Amino acid sequence: IKRQTVDGIRKMKVAGERIPMLTVYDYPSALIAERAGIPMLLVGDSAGMVVHGYDTTLPMTVDDMILHAKMVTRASRSALVVVDLPFMSYATVPDAISSARRVMQEGGGQAIKLEGGQEILPMVHRLTAMGVPVMGHLGLTPQAQHQIGLKVQAREASAARQLLDDALALEQAGAFAIVLEVVPAPLAEVITKRLSIPVIGIGAGPHCDGEVQVWHDILGLYDNKTPRHAKRFAEIGAAIEKTVREYAEDVRAGAFPTSAQSASMPLDTLNEVLK
Ligand code: KIV
Ligand code: NA
Repeated sequence: IKRQTVDGIRKMKVAGERIPMLTVYDYPSALIAERAGIPMLLVGDSAGMVVHGYDTTLPMTVDDMILHAKMVTRASRSALVVVDLPFMSYATVPDAISSARRVMQEGGGQAIKLEGGQEILPMVHRLTAMGVPVMGHLGLTPQAQHQIGLKVQAREASAARQLLDDALALEQAGAFAIVLEVVPAPLAEVITKRLSIPVIGIGAGPHCDGEVQVWHDILGLYDNKTPRHAKRFAEIGAAIEKTVREYAEDVRAGAFPTSAQSASMPLDTLNEVLK
């Protein structure tokens, strides 16, 4: 199997082929995504919320991201694996170099993702110059949530203009693709048309080049945590709960395990033991 490349992802945009991207955080999820043919996987720092149970993504560290990247890359053979650099791990160019080096050498993966616009251009420039494919992330950037909130971004003309400028600047700096999170659909459409690199939306309307969603959101793993931009394609949380209940009931009732799940022993061997 040949692995997907950043060039392959760029060519999907040129060919008008839409790009499905999905977060994965561990070996089993990456194995399933791989079998389902997802071309680009994200080891997102959203792991902080959906896997670790934090309220935000901010507590995630480079070591945490390395651990998730290791689990994912043990399963992934054909997808392009993008790994998030976590909060404050790329505040300066030397920080970005050190974090990207650790994530890619110790964790694996083929690309990294950084949140932000103008302020991260030197880091994007330096990393791409060193051969590290960088994905940008604009709009609702959760690492900045204490400053920008969790609302729709770039609704006013000046902020929308800034977002477009940031997107163009990221492309110029060498980003191979960008994520646009929770921005007005018409603005995302304009940016998608103006950029030659793929624009991957999440809560950014139907006209981006692709979409990224969080594993737990599309699978319906949580009762109470589905964001507005997500769609529950299944109710796997409920299915798991039902299965676990059935297991517990069978153990309580003595219906499981049975001889089918057990090893036997010849009676004379047992008698010898009891002698
Ligand atoms: O961490 C994440 O899951 C992300 C996506 C929402 C783009 O950054
Ligand atoms: Na993220």
